[in-house]
Amino acid sequence: MNTFVTWTDALSVGIDAIDAQHRVLVDLVNEMHDAMVRNYGNQVVDDILTRLAEYARIHFALEEGLMRMQGYPRLEEHKQEHLDLISRLNDLRARFDSGNTKLSMELMDLLKFWLTTHIMESDQHYARFFVESGALSSQAQRSWIFRIWDHLND
Ligand SMILES: [Fe+2]
Repeated sequence: MNTFVTWTDALSVGIDAIDAQHRVLVDLVNEMHDAMVRNYGNQVVDDILTRLAEYARIHFALEEGLMRMQGYPRLEEHKQEHLDLISRLNDLRARFDSGNTKLSMELMDLLKFWLTTHIMESDQHYARFFVESGALSSQAQRSWIFRIWDHLND
């Protein structure tokens, strides 16, 4: 498949667990683009859109949980960016549900732009904050994994 969004080092935030999740988001956007280019049909695109929206919600909750635990000062504006993407995905979903099933390449370009810009600017910013605050020590990273689930349920 022709890769719509190419993963490069510029997209890495330097935290393996977060990079792995961003790669899943990139893969899902690529999968959706591929399904559209190949005219795989509405059901296929719809299923990918559902998976993308679900995964994005979980991933954003995880990021926000980590930011809250680390006292990240830009949490509120970062959350707003996440809400913006969720509402974009909701709009796409609504169009599909109303029978307006044609997603334009223009919308895919916007989604690509949003995702890559968000990762390269806003996510890189919190990652740098985590490095500077010592949140990336192996001890701290281990404890995140256990503590995050509690915060996800806040
Ligand atoms: Fe983010």
